[in-house]
Amino acid sequence: GAPAEVDIAQIAPGALLTSEWRGRPVWILHRTERMIAQLREDDARLADPRSRQEQQPPYARNATRSIRPAFLVATGICTHLGCVPVYRPDVAPADLGGDWNGGFYCPCHGSRFDLAGRVFKNVPAPSNLEIPPHEYLADTRLRIG
Ligand code: FES
Repeated sequence: GAPAEVDIAQIAPGALLTSEWRGRPVWILHRTERMIAQLREDDARLADPRSRQEQQPPYARNATRSIRPAFLVATGICTHLGCVPVYRPDVAPADLGGDWNGGFYCPCHGSRFDLAGRVFKNVPAPSNLEIPPHEYLADTRLRIG
């Protein structure tokens, strides 16, 4: 499919925009400074914090899995059986066991991902969320694909 272009200036800090590429949802999350800082606290609870398991674009092989730490661009499909996880930016909610810095929760079988789409240990999903190929054409202009 054709690449998708998104104006990211419209995404407020902390907000998630869902775009689409090749018929699949692509999330663009504008991470706040607090969210970026929280990513550093997650490592011990993650299955693959440095994305070593899967094929990733080279620019996503880092702790934030991004070109720009403020923006996560990830395919919004659970790597278990393909459900669409729910964005849960709230910190330590009781229904997620309180052990939570915000992220994405898959309602189908309970897989959890952090705000970089990194999968937690001991959940059904086998790998981190996919990062689609993307680039910035300008400061506020993102191209996916
Ligand atoms: Fe997401 Fe199974 S499809 S946990």
